[in-house]
Formats: sequence, C-alpha cells, structure tokens
Amino acid sequence: MCRKCYVTTPIYYASGTPQLGNSYSTVACDVFARFNRLMNRDTFYLTGMDEHGQKIEEVAAKAKMEPQAFVDKIACGTKGVWKDLNISYDYFIRTTDDNHVKAVQMIFEKLLANGDIYLGSYTGNYCVSCETFFTKSQLAEGDTCPDCGKPTKLVSEESYFLNLKKYSDRLLKFIDENPKFIIPETRKNEVVSFIESGLEDLCVSRTTFKWGVPVLSNPKHVVYVWIDALANYITALGYGSDDDSNYKKYWLENNNIYHVIGKDILRFHAIYWPILLMALDIPVNYQLVVHGWILNRDGKMSKSRGNAVYPEDLYSRYGSDSVRYYLAKEMPLGNDGLFSYDRFMERYNTDLANDLGNLVSRTVSMIEKYFDGVIPGNYKNTEFDKSLEDCAKRAIEETIKEFDKFELQNAMNATWELINRANKYVDETAPWTLAKDPASKDLLASVMYHLAESIRVAAHLVAPYLVETSPKILEQLGINECLSIENLKFGANLGGIKVSKGEALFKRLDIKAELKFYEEKQKAALEALKKKEEPKKELITIDDFAKVELKVGEILESKRHENAEKLLVSKIKIGDEVRQIVSGIAKHYDPQTLIGRKVIVVTNLLPVKIRGVESNGMVLCAADGEKLELIEIKEVNSGCIVR
Ligand code: MSP
Repeated sequence: MCRKCYVTTPIYYASGTPQLGNSYSTVACDVFARFNRLMNRDTFYLTGMDEHGQKIEEVAAKAKMEPQAFVDKIACGTKGVWKDLNISYDYFIRTTDDNHVKAVQMIFEKLLANGDIYLGSYTGNYCVSCETFFTKSQLAEGDTCPDCGKPTKLVSEESYFLNLKKYSDRLLKFIDENPKFIIPETRKNEVVSFIESGLEDLCVSRTTFKWGVPVLSNPKHVVYVWIDALANYITALGYGSDDDSNYKKYWLENNNIYHVIGKDILRFHAIYWPILLMALDIPVNYQLVVHGWILNRDGKMSKSRGNAVYPEDLYSRYGSDSVRYYLAKEMPLGNDGLFSYDRFMERYNTDLANDLGNLVSRTVSMIEKYFDGVIPGNYKNTEFDKSLEDCAKRAIEETIKEFDKFELQNAMNATWELINRANKYVDETAPWTLAKDPASKDLLASVMYHLAESIRVAAHLVAPYLVETSPKILEQLGINECLSIENLKFGANLGGIKVSKGEALFKRLDIKAELKFYEEKQKAALEALKKKEEPKKELITIDDFAKVELKVGEILESKRHENAEKLLVSKIKIGDEVRQIVSGIAKHYDPQTLIGRKVIVVTNLLPVKIRGVESNGMVLCAADGEKLELIEIKEVNSGCIVR
C-alpha cells in the first residue's frame, strides 16, 4: 500500500492577512507536503482560517463590517498570498463553513451526551486577544495576560466545561508511551510538567458575545473558539458529514499525520486536542511538530510597532522562491529564527544567485561553448568525478532522511553540500584549461556530463521549496522529466540532450540600494502609524480660540529644576511683568543658551506647582516625535499679543 501523509498548519486567525512570521508554518508545511509528493506518497495538505470568536467580532466592528463580510474579505486576501507563495494545499478550511459548523455542533452534543462536557458557571480573567482564560495565579502583573501582556477582562457567566481532569492520567501515560508525539523533546517536557501541575476543567462555551458556533441544545452559548478551531483537523476530512472517506483514509488508516504549530499554541494541541479526541473515542495518532518564531532584530514583528513584514513586500521584488527558501532555511526545528532585510538579501545573493544560479549558468554556457550545446555522454570517470558522484548520492540520502524528520534546514544544507561540491569541482577540473588541449576532450566531456547530472539531481532536491526555479533548471538543461523519486538517482543518460541557456535564475541584488528602499518604506509606515495614532481634535470656534491669551516673552534667566532633570525654570519678561515658568525642555536646550530669546507664552493659564516650583504660564514649542523646538519671535517686542 502506498504510504500516506496528512499535514496541517494551524488555521490562522482571520483578523488580518498573514505576516511573514505567521506565514512560516504554511511555507514549511508546503515544503514538507511537496517533499512527500516527490516521494510519491499520497499526501493531503490542509490549511485554512479560524474565523470565530470575540476578537474577530471586535475587529470587524472596528472596521464597521459584519463579521461574516469581514472574514470573507480576509479569506480572499489570505488565499491570494498563498497563491503567490505557491502554497499547494489540498483543502482550505474556514470555520464558518457550513459542514464544519454542523460537525462542531455534533461533536459538542456528543460530548454533552457522554458526560465529558457539563454545565457550570465560570468566573475568571479572559484575554480577548489570545481567546484564553487564565486563573489568578497565571495572570501577569496588573491582571494582564501572561502571553501577550494585554489587560484581561473579569468574566462571570454560565458556561459548559470539558472534563480535563478525568483524562489527565491517560494523557500522561499516552505521552510517555509515545515519545515521538511531540517533537522536539524540550516541548514535550514542558507539556508533561504542565499536566503534572494539575489540570483544571476547561471552559468551552461563552454567552457574552454571538460570533461563534451556537450550541445546538442551548443556543445562547457559543462554542469556545479553540474547540471549534481544533476540530478543523477532522472536519476538513469530512468527519461527521455524509462523505467521511477522507477521514477514514487520512486519519483512521494513516500513521503519518503531522500537526505543525508554533510554540505559543502548544498547550492547545498537546493537551486539549488529544483529550477531545479521547473523549470522542477517536485515535490520537498525530505527531506534533513544534516550531519557534521568526523574529526581527528587535523582537517579535507587529503591526502596532510598525515593524511588521509581509510576504508580499519580498516576493513582489524577488519572487516567491526566495521567500520560501529563506523561511524554510532560517529556523532549525524548535528554535527561533531571525528575519532582517540584509540577512535575506545576503542569503539571496550567496546561496541562490551565486551558489545555485551561477553553477547552472556557467555549466550551460560551457556546454554551449565546448560541445555546441549538447550534453556529452558519460566518458571517463576520474577521481574528481567519483567524489562528485559520491557527494550527489550522499546528498540524496541525507536530504530525504532530514526532510522525513521535518528538519528542513538540515535537508537544505545536505543539498547544498552537493551544490557547493559541484562548484568546487569546476574549480578543480578547470574546464577552460582542458578545452585548450584536444587530447583532453574526453576528460572535458566527462566534466560536463558530471556537472549536468549533478545539477539535474539538485533540481529535484530543491523542488519542494524552489518551486518555480526547479523546472527552469531542468528546462535550461533540456531535460523533460517529472519531479519524482524515480528520477532522483545519480547516473541518468543525458548524452545527446540539447541545453538552452535561459535568463539568470536569480539576478544579483544591489544590497545597499535595496536596503535603502526598505528603510524608506519602513519610515513611511512609521509615519502613517503615528498619524493614525494622533487623535483628531474636535473642531473649535474662533471664540474658543480667543480664550487663550498668547504673548511674546523674553527669557531673562533660566536654570535646571532641582528635582527634575527634564525641567528648566525660567524668568520671562512679558511687557512690564516678569513671570516664572517651568518647561520640559531641559533635554533639548542648555539653559544658558536661552537667555535673550523671545518666545511665545500662554499667559492666562492657571498657575500650578510643578515638582514644588510655581509655574505661571507655558512656553510654546513644536514637537516632531522626540525632537522639540522653541517657537521664536525675531522682531516683535516682549508683551505683544500673538494672534
Ligand atoms: N487560530 C490559532 C490556531 C488554531 S489551530 C487549531 C492561531 N492563529 S494565529 O494566526 O495566531 O497563529 C498561527 C500560527 O502562526 C501559530 O502557529 C503561531 O505560532 C504562528 N506564528 C505567529 N507569529 C509567528 C512568527 N513570528 N514566527 C513563526 N510563527 C509564528 O494561533
């Protein structure tokens, strides 16, 4: 029987289109799915969107849209990004799909009927952003969410509960007996100690908002969004529907099921999901592959910090293969990875343009130049040839072995051993020297054959991530074969095939110019963010404005405030009177440099004490972020009105 593979990504919250960070699992799973297809395995790749919950309801309301219209829009944008990134999913589930909703309702009723879900009442702190309840002891300072740091809401309501306690021993035993259930191992230890610290029953319904799957037997409740979301892994296969053939094929009769998730959603997949399956009497036969995060140099990417990177920012300039390459290569399984534009471009230039692109281009050029564009048959086998051939065989073996363990980075490194070896082989054999000596014609032919054959093998090995480039390489070599394990052997008969040089696979980037482009783009994004944040002030009438008295004042004295390093205390002459005014400008002006300057003063403010010092008025400044500048008057005398 043909081996099967079912691979899933987490379904993304439909609160916005995916950023580079949360495109990671989708790209990684796509690479894994394509690798499995290359191995001729019957592969089903699932991705989709998590569209219910309070958070989506709130984001939609902010956008002044109905939640359904809002998630429809996001789903459309997300599918567009996946298409551009060549994501080859077999099914895109949306938790608002009719069949999913019905199946979730059926699951809930089943669990109610067998007593694993019961009605109770809940009082606790809820984080809307993470859609998670926390006990008092779990909360961070100021009752904020321990995961995202945002304020939580104290909620008290009638709720249904899932009996987790009942299953905790069984789950611990299961984890112990299935050491490969969670990889990498460190994540497993985290889960075990969480369970051992004692599980509380899980609140699995809400009554304080509407945007969710209604509980069939008690519709004032909606199903907790995580129960709704986790169920997608089986409802997408038809569980609970009229046609559950995929469920039988890819879940019940398959031992190669991979849920690929980020480290932040481990608990849901390693505790709640297996317990749900146990309660439903469904085999827990998946493996959890837990990856880290893609971080910026200054931490996690986020829209609100203006440092978010979107896949489109990159693929619209450098093509989707380079983004797939970077993401898959950047994270050793389980660790975090880094994204920075300079690192991205360095990888692009070094690995893709130089190592791979150049190898293909110079090989094809040499075959054109020395053999009229026809790949010669396999002639002599020199020591160099043998070492290249051995390297290719090793690369095939290692790449497959590492891909099978979901060690994408290792698999790519194993392939690059071959690409680097082939480049070195060109230097060692120096075909341009061989070409000068007619007696070396056979040797030269052998070199060209071995190069072409190594590149053919490499084209197959990179196919799971360099989806567009791999066929282009075969095309330049004139090889017309499908990408499949059958062709993934060194020693094909290439003699007589006509090569045809094409465009550079990856054009070298001018890194300095590219970085400048992104710098400006980021600056514009920050500015736009700042503008958005500045609340628009209410309109006022001229009479409102006339209430403010502004006069020209001349600074006579200025010194630092004794108890506040940001403040200056100045004596300012306004006509005949002299006032003391405290201003927060000490970081920007040396007090001595202020003497004699004429400034604008608000003269009808109520006097206040600032850090114990009386201030009678206010000096006007213009602010640009951190920058501050006094507004100065040149000609007009102190005491004159400003209007
Ligand atoms: N909707 C839930 C998943 C439900 S699955 C039954 C969810 N969605 S999410 O959109 O917030 O996150 C989706 C995935 O993206 C998660 O696995 C999360 O870990 C991952 N990532 C979010 N930011 C990331 C990075 N910066 N880097 C890598 N992965 C990241 O959680």
